[in-house]
Amino acid sequence: MHSRGYSSRDKEMSAKRLTIDYEEFTSAVQMSAEDQELIANALEAQKGSYSPYSHFQVGAALRLENGIIVKGANQENVAYPSGLCAERTAMFAASANYPGVVMDTLAIVGSDKGKMCESPASPCGACRQVMAEYQKKQGRPLKIILIGSKRIRKFPNVDSVLPFIFDSLKIGE
Ligand code: THU
Repeated sequence: MHSRGYSSRDKEMSAKRLTIDYEEFTSAVQMSAEDQELIANALEAQKGSYSPYSHFQVGAALRLENGIIVKGANQENVAYPSGLCAERTAMFAASANYPGVVMDTLAIVGSDKGKMCESPASPCGACRQVMAEYQKKQGRPLKIILIGSKRIRKFPNVDSVLPFIFDSLKIGE
C-alpha cells in the first residue's frame, strides 16, 4: 500500500500492509463434508428468497456450534429499505431462536434471475458489520464461505472481510 503526502523523514508516519488469508476452491467436493452440507443448505435457502424487485435470490446458511443450521434468504419490500439481506435474516433468526449459541460458519450464495453467479457472493457492508458484532460477542471466529459456480472462497473469520471494524462508541481508545 502506498502512502502519499508524507515524507519518509516524517517520524509520525509508518507504512503498514494488511494481508488477508483465505482458501479458494473450484468445487465444493474439495471441501469438508460439513462445509458441503452447509453449501447445500445455502443453495436450498435461495428458495425462500422474496425478491420481486431485484430478481436476485440470495441464500444463506449458518451453522451453529450445536450443529443446527439456520437458513436465511433475502426479503424485499415495495418500500425498498424495509427489505433485508439473506445473511442478516439468517443471523438474526439464529440469535433470536438460539441466543448465546456460537455461530460457527456462514455460507452465502446468490443467483441472478435463477442463474447462480459465477463469482462468489459478496456480503454487503451492513451484513459484515452485523457478522463482526456477533463474532466479537461470542469471542470465537465466525467463518465465512462465499459460493460461486466457478469458485468458492472460505475466510477464517470476519476480520478477513471487514478490517478496522467499528465496534465501540468509546472515543480515543
Ligand atoms: N442482498 C443480500 O441478500 N445479501 C447481500 O449481501 C447483498 C444483497 C440482497 C438484497 C436485495 O434483496 C438483493 O440482494 C439485491 O440487492
